Amino acid sequence: MKKVIANFKMNKTASEMKEYLISLVAKFQNKHELVLCMPFTNLGVGEFMLRGQENIKLGAQNICDEEEDKCTGEISGKMLKDAGAQYVIVGHSERRTKFKEGGKSINKKIQIALKNGIKVILCIGETLADRNTLKIADTLRNQLTEALKGLYENELENITVAYEPIWAIGSGRTPLPKEIETVGKIIRKAISEDFSPKAGKEIKIVYGGSVNQKNAASFCKCSNIDGVLVGGGCLDCDNFLQILSVIPQ
Ligand code: PGA
Repeated sequence: MKKVIANFKMNKTASEMKEYLISLVAKFQNKHELVLCMPFTNLGVGEFMLRGQENIKLGAQNICDEEEDKCTGEISGKMLKDAGAQYVIVGHSERRTKFKEGGKSINKKIQIALKNGIKVILCIGETLADRNTLKIADTLRNQLTEALKGLYENELENITVAYEPIWAIGSGRTPLPKEIETVGKIIRKAISEDFSPKAGKEIKIVYGGSVNQKNAASFCKCSNIDGVLVGGGCLDCDNFLQILSVIPQ
């Protein structure tokens, strides 16, 4: 079953999210595994509305990289777990760029999420400059190695790698499916070398960046790609359902 991750970013009040989930749950055909990553303020309504939904999982968009309480304004792994979050996005490029999150912090966030029984969606991706200077493989390799440092191989089953080229996010531009396939190979090779060939083969990889109803199917058909991450395209429920309708099972 293809995985479809929705990143709502900083959108929707709790009442808007409730309306959205009423329509989504009513029309969802259970053909994909959905992970809805919503703002912290919506987790309560999300948890309530998604109770009993086997193929719609609740996700958050961030987690504190510390566990002690003296972190004003942050949300801990324990709190996320208690709120019902089953997944969390870590390393999104907006957080890397705007909030200066680096490899060490991302690594700590992953460790804390896993310790609290929360699965991780680890975003990695290159800039346009990396792409133009043929540094895609090096950039992705470094981001992966830093993020997954110190993890046990068996913990990788709780990690999905989201390949999100920074230049493709919200821009309407995307790599070609065959380029995504190549990146899938790069990611699997890096994981094989850092862990084992088995881990490289089994790691889940999704593509994210300007996914819409016209291109979603072609990305999902790439060999070694397990699904997509949708940002802007998930905000309108009918539009999101249209994207789902073109994605193979
Ligand atoms: P987009 O966002 O689908 O709007 O490009 C994807 C993301 O930022 O995760």
